[in-house]
Amino acid sequence: MKKPWQFVAVSGIVAFATLAFAQSQEGESPPSAPAVTTVHPIAFPHNTHAGEFKIDCQYCHFSAERSVDAGVPPVSSCMGCHIIIRGRNKPEEVQKLRDYWDRGEPIPWVRIYKVADHVKFPHMRHVAKDAGALECQECHGQVEEIEVIEEVEQPLRMGWCVQCHRDNDASIDCTVCHY
Ligand code: HEC
Ligand code: HEC
Ligand code: HEC
Ligand code: HEC
Ligand code: HEC
Repeated sequence: MKKPWQFVAVSGIVAFATLAFAQSQEGESPPSAPAVTTVHPIAFPHNTHAGEFKIDCQYCHFSAERSVDAGVPPVSSCMGCHIIIRGRNKPEEVQKLRDYWDRGEPIPWVRIYKVADHVKFPHMRHVAKDAGALECQECHGQVEEIEVIEEVEQPLRMGWCVQCHRDNDASIDCTVCHY
């Protein structure tokens, strides 16, 4: 059963939706993503892992195909390799990783891609073979060439989601994406 405040929230959204929708339809180029200066606790190089060593994205982000969140790997999945590999160029970054492992602490990665709280984004519906079957790069850019991810390639605006849904005959019902 829905709680009354949920109805308030939904009608609130619909009330100024026409305006928001009109704005997103105007075809002006989307505002570029803010220049975020991310300071990760460890400088994790995607280009080394996914580019040079061709480790599959889903080796680390293993829940993307079957759950809402792609997930960030636990320290244990790094240690399979880094118990042995010290790192040629940045051994001090690998040392930080080993220190987290020794202390039994999770690594507090800085979150980069995040949609607003009133939006639902299910990864599995986009990447699973029997659903959207999209490549990660479609939305996240050429991650295998990026040294340290710090900026959003695509601003996560409603117009961007809706445009691709239109192009692919996916639903554009408000309730599909909104709580
Ligand atoms: C060896 C493990 C590993 C592999 C392989 C890997 N990643 Fe990651 N990924 C991570 C870790 C750790 C983070 C958190 C640190 C960061 O944001 O850079 C992360 C973060 C990300 C983020 C940002 C998450 C956020 O906070 O919003 C995206 C997007 C991403 N990875 C996509 C990819 C894609 C696409 C591939 C394949 C081309 C890939 N990753 C391969 C470990 C991996
Ligand atoms: C399948 C094996 C594998 C896994 C899993 C893996 N790495 Fe690596 N990692 C490597 C290899 C290979 C290098 C390159 C080492 C070199 O060039 O000396 C590397 C390099 C690095 C470096 C840079 C060191 C340097 O000298 O360039 C960091 C930092 C790092 N890894 C962190 C992580 C973290 C954090 C995770 C878990 C999210 C992880 N790795 C998972 C294989 C792996
Ligand atoms: C259709 C666009 C799209 C595709 C395809 C996509 N992502 Fe995402 N990704 C997003 C959006 C949007 C978010 C923010 C979701 C949120 O805030 O709930 C996100 C968030 C993430 C995050 C942050 C942490 C988390 O658990 O959500 C990671 C990591 C990530 N994506 C990795 C991947 C990988 C790896 C693939 C390919 C297997 C992939 N994504 C495919 C759009 C996409
Ligand atoms: C690059 C194209 C693309 C982008 C960008 C994209 N989507 Fe999708 N989305 C799809 C496709 C294709 C499907 C249908 C998958 C299927 O057939 O199961 C889908 C399905 C969905 C579903 C499930 C729909 C249902 O009928 O249950 C939700 C929810 C969703 N997307 C939300 C979002 C949100 C929120 C964003 C933006 C943050 C977004 N999508 C961006 C292509 C995209
Ligand atoms: C395919 C996914 C998707 C669909 C369908 C969708 N939205 Fe959204 N909507 C989003 C995303 C993502 C945001 C967050 C944009 C941001 O944070 O910049 C958003 C934001 C909004 C906002 C907040 C204002 C704003 O621009 O941030 C309102 C209001 C809204 N949507 C109403 C609606 C209504 C009404 C419908 C149906 C006509 C609808 N949405 C359909 C994805 C969707």
